[in-house]
Amino acid sequence: MACFIGKLITTVAWCVIGCIIYILTRGDMFQRKMSVELNPGLTPPSVLPQGVALVHVQGLGNGDSLHFLLCNYGAPTLLMVNTYSTRSTVQVDWPAFINHRSPSSLRVVPQTSVRYSRAIAFTKVWEYNDVSNVADPQKTAKSSFYPPYELQNFTWSQPEITVNQSEHIVTLCGRDTTESFLNGSLCLQLSLFDSVGRDEVMPNLRHNANSSQLRVWLDGVTPRGTSSRFALEFQSVGDSGFRERVYSQSFIDDEYQPFFFQMSQWVSSPVNGDSVWGYNQWKPVAYRGAKPTSEDAAPCKHSELVLVDQIPPSALVQAYFTKDPQTYGLNISFGAAGDATFYKATKYISWTVLMGLGNPLGNSFYTLRIAFIPAGIVILVIFFVVQECVCNKRTSGYLRIN
Ligand SMILES: *[C@@H]1O[C@H](CO)[C@@H](O)[C@H](O)[C@H]1NC(C)=O
Ligand SMILES: *[C@@H]1O[C@H](CO)[C@@H](O)[C@H](O)[C@H]1NC(C)=O
Ligand SMILES: *[C@@H]1O[C@H](CO)[C@@H](O)[C@H](O)[C@H]1NC(C)=O
Ligand SMILES: *[C@@H]1O[C@H](CO)[C@@H](O)[C@H](O)[C@H]1NC(C)=O
Ligand SMILES: *[C@@H]1O[C@H](CO)[C@@H](O)[C@H](O)[C@H]1NC(C)=O
Repeated sequence: MACFIGKLITTVAWCVIGCIIYILTRGDMFQRKMSVELNPGLTPPSVLPQGVALVHVQGLGNGDSLHFLLCNYGAPTLLMVNTYSTRSTVQVDWPAFINHRSPSSLRVVPQTSVRYSRAIAFTKVWEYNDVSNVADPQKTAKSSFYPPYELQNFTWSQPEITVNQSEHIVTLCGRDTTESFLNGSLCLQLSLFDSVGRDEVMPNLRHNANSSQLRVWLDGVTPRGTSSRFALEFQSVGDSGFRERVYSQSFIDDEYQPFFFQMSQWVSSPVNGDSVWGYNQWKPVAYRGAKPTSEDAAPCKHSELVLVDQIPPSALVQAYFTKDPQTYGLNISFGAAGDATFYKATKYISWTVLMGLGNPLGNSFYTLRIAFIPAGIVILVIFFVVQECVCNKRTSGYLRIN
């Protein structure tokens, strides 16, 4: 009898755990089936310039597809395309794409299945000599700026693609042709995920199957000034029916310091609506070491979002966006006012941003584990009781044998 009750309690406990997991992760159990391809459909005699590649990662959902395309022909760009179809594919007219970056030379077909597209392009690295130590490009005199590094003119090494079951990683490193980059590089690392999770590397951003993560780092570049700081300019391109804005939001986190933290969100909404269709999200923090720790964290801030009257010099953008695209841009600058640690101290800075479909990952997501604590205690008590029951029964069994 005791054994039966014990089993019953164990079963109930497992059901409770199952229910709690289900309720807390509702909607986040969502998974995509991932596949990756390099230069889809490229055959000789067409060849891409040295080090240039087009990486296509497709995530199949239940009734939709999420395509991510990363290309470093011109300014490195990440394009996200969501379609209503599980059979949509990428079609490239390679000669037209390579020679003229012609409009429509890269498409996601069938075009009628395309629901939403948005791209981000990394265009420039700004360097300024921050002699007054304000760590703010907007408060710095124009004369303190060095000529920016234009990412469209970088030379790139062949991308490194790592695929494992849960994660697809693409790493691209490039350099400017000037002397300051002799020992330096700028790298972009794109990670794509089939399901919900959290990055193990600081700033430990959360992700799900509808998002991808880009880490950007500047390593070993020789600063041109004694108090050099850097800023990264990036731009978004979307259809004209959308408008974009950037804001900060406070979040609660239970696991990682600080308990309350800020998140910057760059969202895209239809002109006549408030719903968010796509976003970028980042913590306003950068790291001065290749293995990020809280000791080498540096604050970063963004400038105001501005409308840019030209699309970025990116082959992917020029080939894909044909109908009156709209471009916005901002700068992310690294370092804080009064902080005496300039770039030269470690010659390294890294920053991480998410790009995703739908609403940015919200607060409920981050407080998940807090809700787990009381539930966990209850479950532990139940297990304790069950174990006691089982123990008592065993003891009585041994007694009987003796
Ligand atoms: C991801 O996107 C798909 C398709 O739009 C949607 O059905 C799903 O709920 C989304 N998942 C999350 C966790 O946002
Ligand atoms: C970068 O490339 C563009 C186009 O090829 C060219 O017009 C521009 O002068 C180059 N900039 C630098 C700094 O070399
Ligand atoms: C996939 O990569 C992640 C991160 O590098 C690693 O933690 C995980 O163990 C890998 N999974 C497999 C199945 O190799
Ligand atoms: C590059 O590294 C080499 C060897 O460490 C050093 O001698 C050289 O001065 C460096 N060049 C620049 C431009 O920093
Ligand atoms: C980025 O900063 C530079 C230097 O202050 C400025 O010239 C440029 O217009 C800024 N870009 C954007 C998109 O705000």
